[in-house]
Order: sequence, then structure tokens, then C-alpha cells
Amino acid sequence: MASIAPEAAANLHTERANPHWVRLGGDHKLDHIPGEDGWPVLGTTLMQLADPLGFQKRMVETYGPVFRTRSFGRRGVNLIGADANELVLFDRDKLFSNEQGWGPVLNLLFPRGLMLMDFEAHRVDRRALSIAFKPEPMRAYCGVLNTGIASAMEQWAKNTGNGSMRFYDAIKALTLDTAASSFLGLPLGPEADRLNKAFVDMVQASVGVVRKPLPFTKMGKGVAGRRLMVDYFGRLVRERRANPGQDMFSQFALATRDDGSLLPEDVVVDHMIFLMMAAHDTITSSATVLFWQLAKNPRWQDRLRAEARAVTGGDGLPLAYEDLGRMELTEMAFKEALRFMPPVPNMPRRALRDFRFGGYDIPAGTPIGISPAAVHADPAHWESPEIFDPMRFTADKVAARHKYAWVPFGGGAHMCLGLHFAYMQVKLLANHILTRFEVRMAAGAEPLWQAWPIPKPRDGLRVEMRRIC
Ligand code: HEM
Repeated sequence: MASIAPEAAANLHTERANPHWVRLGGDHKLDHIPGEDGWPVLGTTLMQLADPLGFQKRMVETYGPVFRTRSFGRRGVNLIGADANELVLFDRDKLFSNEQGWGPVLNLLFPRGLMLMDFEAHRVDRRALSIAFKPEPMRAYCGVLNTGIASAMEQWAKNTGNGSMRFYDAIKALTLDTAASSFLGLPLGPEADRLNKAFVDMVQASVGVVRKPLPFTKMGKGVAGRRLMVDYFGRLVRERRANPGQDMFSQFALATRDDGSLLPEDVVVDHMIFLMMAAHDTITSSATVLFWQLAKNPRWQDRLRAEARAVTGGDGLPLAYEDLGRMELTEMAFKEALRFMPPVPNMPRRALRDFRFGGYDIPAGTPIGISPAAVHADPAHWESPEIFDPMRFTADKVAARHKYAWVPFGGGAHMCLGLHFAYMQVKLLANHILTRFEVRMAAGAEPLWQAWPIPKPRDGLRVEMRRIC
């Protein structure tokens, strides 16, 4: 299997290691864009990390929807609004690079993932990987998830009985365990635990302040975790090719490109590692937001419980793949949770050519950011955006809205490949949890949310669980 020399691997995210990335040619090229450079060295980074939404709101009010910032040592331009989302995500003129936008953040740990590829190479691999999301394999994952979530519920019932728990932590553990079975086809046990730990180290490293893989740093642990996963997954590709199962990894191992050739082994490995990252914290975060709001809105919780009972026929029963489409209110509530606090609040790109937007000329090489979170909170599209209201997602309301006012899964060529998997998993969670437990906020609990890099409640979301079956 092709491997990258350690010294090259340690620099994958840098400009030096990527001579083909388009250069801005000096920060002064953005002098004409209104905005702020922030503090010496730190720039606007800390302000952006501490309160991204508040920061963006202030910048839009002060400078308008096209503004300049300086974070992680570089100037960049933010384009805020539904039209900006459409320009960048739909990318009709192939102006924006994903690789050069996400690469500086993710290349060290998740290089060559689908989201970090551009244009034709991306199209070819995306098409190959799509087979893993066709109805047949999805039905198989649905079966595995039903079983995995039901047995986690037994554990929850034993651990909490009628008691309190940290919902975010419990969902995180549950999605990690179900990922081992549905993505990798592994039974729970020491092997799955070892991989899960390596994976968690990688995800934590992607937000580490120290960007070099030095010993004892998050990045050092993350890079070691990646080595372990690359090694293990490399062997697993060969095993699954010889003896495929119904898991997602087997689908990837057997995926073919347009010319009929199998994806190379190291490519399968990189795609799988990226996919696990793309799936894990996003589902954990959005399911937590949904249950936070259901805990605060008992009326909506009752409606979703009634829907699950009507669709499955009772309490604590599996939700069949064929019935997913009947969980309509649950889907609307999940969409509202994704609006309320999108797991991917901002998306980076880099301009490949000069372009004009909002009255400004923006040069090639400019780091560009768009913000689903800002547009999802914009009263121009959402009346009283601070209120949780799933009725915003009735068909007529959706049809009347700008198509790019709600973009939790992105859009265009890079639109989330796993979005139907995400809907499925969250509907399964809603069914299994709500038909067994009533969920209420713990007395006095109102979580503070850490916004970066993927929203999570600082206190783990303290809830009371009362058994109903
Ligand atoms: C609520 C859950 C999820 C949210 C909010 C979410 C969000 C996103 C977003 C915003 C993008 C596009 C980023 C960009 O264009 O810069 C994306 C891409 C992607 N997501 Fe998801 N995601 C979720 C769950 C999942 C799951 C469960 C999987 C896999 C099973 C997955 C796999 C992917 C992949 C492979 C891409 C790259 C697609 C491409 O570049 O062609 N995601 N996701």
C-alpha cells in the first residue's frame, strides 16, 4: 500500500507542501475589503472561536455581508447570506476549491477525504462511494442500528433507571459503538475499543492548538491514532474484498471507478477514515440539540413519541427501513434542530480565480468562508429565529424560502453524502429513546454551548430520564 514519508505527512496542511495551491500574493490584496485584523499575531481568531455567531453578527452590522477577518495567521473574506451560500456551494463557475479551503485545517489527519477533493477527481470518487448509500446497503445498516440502539437502551435503563444522565456523552458513546458495527462490521470488544480510541484522538487533534505532531500533544496522539487506523484499515480492505459483509467498509472496498477498476487500497482507507469523522460528531451534536429542545418542549416530545408509536405499532419496537419516510414530524423536528444549531457552522473554500460579489472584487487565492449558522439565525428568512419550531419545515414553507437559507448539509457537488444516513440514525434514536423514556431537563440545567469546532454542551447536557416502558 502506498504510504507517505513521516516528514511529508507532518506538513501536509502547509502551503509549502502544496505548491499547487493558489497564492493570494500578500495580505495587502484585501485592503479594499472592509473588516478587521484584530490583535497582533492572534488576529481575530480568539473572538471568532469564543462566540462565532455573535462575532459574525457584529461584523455584518458594522461592515456589511462581505467582510475581512484575520484568523490562524491569514486574512480571509467572509460572505454572509443565502445568495453567498448559493454562489459558493453551487459553484457554477468552478471558482472555489474545497481542497485548498479545508486542507489547512484537516490535511494532517484526514487527507484526501472526499470533502477535500476537487472537481473531476472528486466526481469520480464520489460516484464510486455512492453505492454505499443505495437502498440495499442502507436497509442492512438500518437493521444493525436498530439492534445496536436497542441494546444500548437496555444499558441506559440499567445505568440510569429513573435518573439523570449526561445526554451528549451517552449519545457519543452510542454512536461510536454503532459506527463500529454499521460502518466497519466489527463486533463490540477490545478491537472496536482500540479503534474508537484512535479515532477519538484524531478528532481531538484536529482542533488542537499545537499543529505539529509533537510527543504528548493532541496532535502527536492524533497522528499516532491515524497510523494505527491506516494500518488496521489497510488489512481490513484486503479481508473485506475476499469476504465482504453488509457493512459500509465492505461497500467502499468493492466500490469501482468509471473504468470499472477498484479504488486503490490506500484510497479506500482515506475515504473511510474521513467518513467516520464526517459522521460521528455531526450526528452526536445534532441529536443532542434535538433532544435538548424536546426536553424543553414536552408538547413536541409527546407528538414525536405518538408518531413513533403509530409508525412502529408500540413501545420499544424496531423502526423498519420502509417506515422511515413515515416519521414526518420527527424529520421536521430534526431539520429544525439542524437550523437551530448546525453541526458545521462555517465552511471554508479558497478562490481559484478573481471574482466579484456584493460590490467587491475578490482576488484569486483568497481564503473564503461562508456561514450556515449566520444564515440560519437571520430574521430575514426565519421569524423569531431563537424559537425552536419544527413547523418551519412544512412543504409550503420550504417552497417559499430561498433554497440556500437552510444548508446544514451544504449543497452542490459536495452536498453531504451521508445525509440520508444521518436522517435514518436520528429517526431510529428518536424512536428507541422516546418510546422508552421521557426526557426532561435536570433541575436548574441550561447548558452553555461550546461552538467550535462542532457544537457541544459544556455540561454534557444534564437531563432526567423517566422510564415509560
Ligand atoms: C447531522 C449530520 C451531518 C451533518 C450536519 C453533515 C454536514 C455536512 C456538510 C455541511 C458537508 C459539506 C461540507 C462542505 O461542502 O464544505 C458534508 C460533507 C460530507 N459528509 Fe456529512 N454531515 C452529517 C452526517 C454525515 C454522515 C452520517 C456521513 C456518512 C455516513 C457523512 C459523510 C459526508 C461526506 C462523505 C461528505 C463529503 C461529501 C463530498 O465532499 O462530496 N456526513 N457533511
